[in-house]
Order: sequence, then structure tokens, then C-alpha cells
Amino acid sequence: MNVNAMIKEFSARFGGSPEHIFFCPGRVNLIGEHIDYNGGKVMPCAISLGTYMAVSKNKDRLLRFQSLDFSEKAELRLQESYTKTGKGWFNYPLGVINEILHDGNTISGLDMLFYGNLPVGAGLSSSASIEVITIFALKKMFGLNISEKEMALMGKKTENEFIGVNSGIMDQFAVVMGKKDKAILLNCDTLEYEYLPFETGDYILVIINSNKQRTLADSKYNERFAECGKALKALKKELDVTHLCDIDLTSFEKHRHLINDPVLEKRALHVISENFRVGEAKDALKANDLITFGKLMYASHQSLKDWYEVSGKELDTIVEFCKSYKDCIGARMTGAGFGGCAIALVKKDKLEDFTMKIVEYYNERIGYKPDVFASEIGDGVKGL
Ligand code: GLA
Repeated sequence: MNVNAMIKEFSARFGGSPEHIFFCPGRVNLIGEHIDYNGGKVMPCAISLGTYMAVSKNKDRLLRFQSLDFSEKAELRLQESYTKTGKGWFNYPLGVINEILHDGNTISGLDMLFYGNLPVGAGLSSSASIEVITIFALKKMFGLNISEKEMALMGKKTENEFIGVNSGIMDQFAVVMGKKDKAILLNCDTLEYEYLPFETGDYILVIINSNKQRTLADSKYNERFAECGKALKALKKELDVTHLCDIDLTSFEKHRHLINDPVLEKRALHVISENFRVGEAKDALKANDLITFGKLMYASHQSLKDWYEVSGKELDTIVEFCKSYKDCIGARMTGAGFGGCAIALVKKDKLEDFTMKIVEYYNERIGYKPDVFASEIGDGVKGL
């Protein structure tokens, strides 16, 4: 989709040219999974795929939502607040509009057309992308005083309160703050961040979509969120901490008996060890040591598989193949898990061979093919 095609589609639906076109990326998380809602550090980056939005004000006091990806449309009268309506895709932009109105801002009617080239529900943050693009559009169009951090927080609030998923801040932050060829090291407790060089030299970052439908992913995600809360509560009996990620591995070893539930103990072990790995991954990137970084990716996957139990046969099959492929130095599931995507670092000149072989390997074991594509690390939300 290019800008001209988007203008054409907009005119065909609403008449006239759109006043603005915006783009918001999706993200991959390099390492630090299921860490954001436990107050630790994560390392996401924005990718070149994402959501496009063509938009104009209207005088009809109507919010019109249309998408090139879904046939479902919505047309709602402008009012003071909204609640989630069914399961439609437009609840994401509607949720952020609701937040903007709650904050006392005034807006007019809007004609909105969305298009996304991110696979939906594949763990690349298509929902954060559509939330943030809507906030950004309204900020620009109505001169709203919303900082970048506030945009991310508003997207998270929408996800938590309007959509009903207890997700953390990572996705929205990454798609707002993304920077070309940089990974973002984000402290999810303080929202302090720094950009790290993500220079992959002879290697490229490959995304492998398992094409496994993430059924029940939201409820399992909320279950993990609750399990972490219970483990934290038990550890707090003797430890003066706010988040699981405030605990280091030595202290965890001394106090893990307090949890008294083997499942919760596994969950905490993942979180605490993964947070530690993010620190090691940061050192590896700063030292330009991609081999160590790759090993940490494999270790992260193992922990998500064994301790956090959010991987699954499909993602494990992908990572298993990557381990057996000499010119792949690291791989892991990315995002919430339960299906969705994995990422891998593969020698540039082997991409074609890697793709052919992983597709065959996966298809033989799973019964359908994955999608494999190289990804560039791009900028955050912007006007086009
Ligand atoms: C989803 C959530 C994020 C984060 C990841 C797991 O993408 O939206 O907040 O918790 O899962 O790391």
C-alpha cells in the first residue's frame, strides 16, 4: 500500500481526499518477554510493517470507522463516552477516543480509514499500532497536549480498561518511540529508556510467523498476569519489593520456598531470570557481540517454554529448526506467545536457503506452512 492507493481508497469511501495520512509500526521484542507487567526491563524495536490511517474531519458529528482489512464498519454519533461494542476491530480506535474524551478534550466527527500490513493476532502488536496511530492522529488534528510517554500510557490504559487485557506498556511504548536500527531498552517501572545499537553485521533479523491462531491468548495472558501477582504476594512476606523484577536470582533462591506452589514458582523463575538476561543482552549489544546475544535469545525461549509455558508446539518447532541450522545464531518466540511469531538471527546470504528449509521442516511436522520474512528496524509513529 502506498500513499496514493490509500488516498484513492479513502475517496471511494468518504469522498474527497483525506486531510492526513499517518503510519504507525508494529514491533518485535528482542528479549525480555512477559517482563513489562512485572516492572523489569525489555528490549523491543519497531519494525517496518504497521498500520496506515487516512483521516478527515466531518461536520456530521459522526465517528466513521472503516478498514481495508475487515468488512465490518462502524458509524457512531459523537458522545461523551463509549463502551466496548462486541468484538469488532474498531473497538481499539474507539477505546482511545474514549480516553481522549475522558481527559476533557473536544474533537469533531471523523472519517477514518485504516489499513494494516501486519499479520493480525500474530504477536507483532497490531493492536498497539492501531491504538497509537489513533492517538497520534487526534493529537495532530486537534492540537492536543499529549507527550510521547502519555501516548503510550493512554494506549495501555485502553488495552487494560476498554479491551480488558492486562498487558504492560512495552508494545505501545515501542511503536511510539521506535528508531531506525535501534533497540529500545526500556525500564517498565520508571519508563526510563535508552537506545541501543542493533547492528547485525552479516546477519539479519528474520520474523517467522507460525500462522497458529492464538485462541484463548487473552485469557491465558491474564492468567499469567494473575499468577505473577500471587507469586509476588508470597515473596513479599519476607522481601520488601514492589515488582517481581526487583528480586535478583540470589535472593529468589533464598526465598522461593515462600511461594509454596510449583507452578507459581516456575512463573517467578522465568520472570526473574529473563530480567537478568536482558541486562546480559544489553552488554552483548554494547560490545557488538551478536553470538552471545543469540545464545541469550535461545535461553529466553527455553525459559518461556519450560517455566512460563507460553510457547507451544509450533513456536518450539521453529526454534528447534533454528538451533539445528548452522547459520542461525539465535531464535525465540516474541510477544505474548501461545502462537504468533518467532524471531531469528540468520546469516544474510543464507536467507533463501533458511526459508526454504524451515518451511519444509515446519510443514512436515505441523501440517501447514509458516511465513518467513526479513524485517527492518524502523521509526515510531509519524505523519506521511
Ligand atoms: C503482549 C503484551 C505486552 C507484553 C508481551 C509479553 O505483547 O501486550 O505488554 O506483556 O505480550 O512480553
